[in-house]
Amino acid sequence: MRKKITIIGAGNVGATAAHWAVVRGLGDVVLLDVVEGVPQGKALDLWQSGPVENFAWGVKGSNDYADTAGSDIVIITAGLARKPGMSRDDLLAKNVAIVKTCTAEAVKYSPDCVLIVVTNPIDAMVYTAFKVSGFPPNRVIGMAGVLDSARYRTFLADALGVAPSDVNAMVMGIHGDNMLPLPRLANVAGVPISDLLSEEKINEIVKRTQMGGIEIVNHLKTGSAFYTPGLSAIEMAEAIVKDSKRVLPCAAYLEGEFGISGCFLGVPVVLGEKGVERIIEFELTSEEKAALNESVAAVQNQMADTGL
Ligand code: LAC
Repeated sequence: MRKKITIIGAGNVGATAAHWAVVRGLGDVVLLDVVEGVPQGKALDLWQSGPVENFAWGVKGSNDYADTAGSDIVIITAGLARKPGMSRDDLLAKNVAIVKTCTAEAVKYSPDCVLIVVTNPIDAMVYTAFKVSGFPPNRVIGMAGVLDSARYRTFLADALGVAPSDVNAMVMGIHGDNMLPLPRLANVAGVPISDLLSEEKINEIVKRTQMGGIEIVNHLKTGSAFYTPGLSAIEMAEAIVKDSKRVLPCAAYLEGEFGISGCFLGVPVVLGEKGVERIIEFELTSEEKAALNESVAAVQNQMADTGL
């Protein structure tokens, strides 16, 4: 049966996600925004690429949540984006109100969907969607690990002169300055990066990964990254729609895994038709554990600020 993907927020991230959803053949797409005309215009433009890109999916732009009814996946991208000098936390107060409304409306029409939250600060916004939706934790997931890990893998591949797809590397923890790129687990076709790069170079890449978002904000000046954030959300959606059991780092609700409970944090998960089917838990070194706990403290502060 054809799947239905709703993307809330027709800005750069939402429109990019819509583009990838049709190109990757996920299903019919509804692009929704509060601004009149923008989702309609972008959706119409995208729909008209069907004959050239060879897809037959419906692409509809709307301001009315009734059009999203029966979605299998709802991706929330709506909210303000960062400008230079702003942290992701600076967005919290404004975006929490937006995400609350989007979630409440979306789940009214799609009570069985999987929610993927992209709005920043992601770890607090996915918690907001979790609270407002009343969904079980497996059906509420935050996007960030795929994006942060893609940046990490890109920088490592560049330093090594190898294809990025041959670099396996993961970023765990918060989508913020305390995120945790894990050099110990990073490898190129199985060969540990510590055998291939100096400690100094690895540290430089870790730092650049942690600052990956702001590096782009400082270039753009009027907003934040959108190509890889939009694609990363679709990478997750595709794993769910196709029930492929991909292992991707996502912000998932932790209930004791890694010794952490009651918050969303980036961890490796198995994604399938039920959303998060399993969290892959493994032994961390004491240094990694301490770094992850810094992420937890930062996320808990954000969660308190949501007032939920
Ligand atoms: C970034 C934004 C999306 O990391 O948080 O680019």
